[in-house]
Amino acid sequence: MERRKDAFFAEMERQRDAVTFDEVLLKTGYSTIELPKISLVGRFSRNCPLKRPFVSAAMDTVTGYRMAIAMARLGGIGVIHRNMSPKKQAWHVARVKNHLNVRIADPPPVCVRDTATVEEVLNERRRKRYPFESFLVVDENGKLVGVITGQDFDFCVDKTRQVRTAMTPRSDLEVASPEISDDEAFEAMVRMKKKRLPLENEDGTVAGLFVFSDLVRARSGTNMHNTDERGNLRVAAAIGVGDGVLEHVELLLNERVDVVVVDTAHGDSERVLKAVRRVKMEFPMLDVVAGNVSEGDSARRLIEDGRADGVKVGQGPGSICSTRTVTGTGCPQMTAIHQCELAVRDSGVPVCADGGISTPAHVTLALAAGAESVMMGRMFAGTKETPGETLFRQGQRVKVYRGMGSRSAMRDSRASRERYSQSDKFAPEGVEAVVPYQGSVSEVVGNLEGWLRSSLGYVGASSIPELHEKADFRRISSEGRKESDPHDVTVTPEAVSSAAMDLSDDEAFDDEGFLDENDAADWYQ
Ligand code: XMP
Repeated sequence: MERRKDAFFAEMERQRDAVTFDEVLLKTGYSTIELPKISLVGRFSRNCPLKRPFVSAAMDTVTGYRMAIAMARLGGIGVIHRNMSPKKQAWHVARVKNHLNVRIADPPPVCVRDTATVEEVLNERRRKRYPFESFLVVDENGKLVGVITGQDFDFCVDKTRQVRTAMTPRSDLEVASPEISDDEAFEAMVRMKKKRLPLENEDGTVAGLFVFSDLVRARSGTNMHNTDERGNLRVAAAIGVGDGVLEHVELLLNERVDVVVVDTAHGDSERVLKAVRRVKMEFPMLDVVAGNVSEGDSARRLIEDGRADGVKVGQGPGSICSTRTVTGTGCPQMTAIHQCELAVRDSGVPVCADGGISTPAHVTLALAAGAESVMMGRMFAGTKETPGETLFRQGQRVKVYRGMGSRSAMRDSRASRERYSQSDKFAPEGVEAVVPYQGSVSEVVGNLEGWLRSSLGYVGASSIPELHEKADFRRISSEGRKESDPHDVTVTPEAVSSAAMDLSDDEAFDDEGFLDENDAADWYQ
């Protein structure tokens, strides 16, 4: 099916020319659109919807579990990076999936035996990296006999004691039947001031558990959360193409990962196609996004030969990338997105535009060119949800942001070397940098959303599919570019909203329902 913008790109292709974001503008059009009514629904992959089309990059200075939780709570998705062991990455996935546990029933809550020692339970907790501290306690028949919490562990000085002597016994607990609704459970817990409400079958065996902090989180802003059919946040994870790929995916699937991303610098290679095929063959129900590519034929190969459920486009546009500079290969990002989308248009597989987004306008342009989602590293790199410390450089608060192909990332991680097909002697294809600290990612996403709505209003599109239909572009000269930016004035620093000035970091974080890293252990109590 032909679209308006196709002629623009076809003409350019005839001249063997290509464009990137700052060389084009979208044509405006007749509009009856009310901005708040615009739908920003997109897809990251064939079966992974997004309420906002934003994806955080699979980079070790961008997406760990905290960023992934934030992104999914804001309607997008985070791709957990892979510069860590598969086991640890699976643990990150579990933290996201467990963040909004409305009712813990399927799989059932983790229970411990009353005859185990406190020491044994603590060791098991460490070994399995459980992100929570409380356990239901059962007897030899699986019947509920009590609960042991973080506080019980703390006050149990002699760790060789049996759990049944340190726990809160069943007689002191409030329990409910599995028929109780989520709302009724919430109300009962508020009324009884109980942080946990175990669910018990008629025969006394454990049927499930409600945790109050989970219910509170799940009830705040629920309509924007990107959740799966069980009500848990969606999350993706990056994988490689090496021998252990199937075992890696299995670990992630055990924690109910929603999408895996075969994350490489050159997706149009036999080893990538082979890895995608193997994962799809072994786990046909799991969505696999593959990349990165920048040519139409490459995108088509990924879905036809590889059977990928999503194609990630972008070779060298990223802010920390030096691939194009050091290899002389790649394609400017607007043209790359359009070429790839055109090649897979009738397949039902969406394109994710990855890299090069440095202004809000780039988000709209990437979507208008044909993407259904936009992956960003730099845009989110300065936020408090990224892994890593906030540093001070020349009096400014900054965070580290580095390319996955940078010298330090390659030195630190085999996965980074594999992404760029490098061995122990490596040639970097990325740089290390710092970016200004930006506060909460919710503010960044909120602003991006506002500007995206405005853009769709100017085009006269009420949704991303309609933007795909209506988008048409004009190429602009450097003079046109100059005119587009503020000019002939001395720009004063932007006024900071009084609300933003008044909020301390912690308050801002609490506002979003998050807690500090130090409090993370308490999340699941
Ligand atoms: P932005 O522009 O959002 O780009 O910061 C993020 C994307 O850049 C890719 N990436 C790299 N590309 N060398 C590269 O050529 C690198 O070292 C590198 N590290 C990340 C990646 O696709 C990411 O999502």
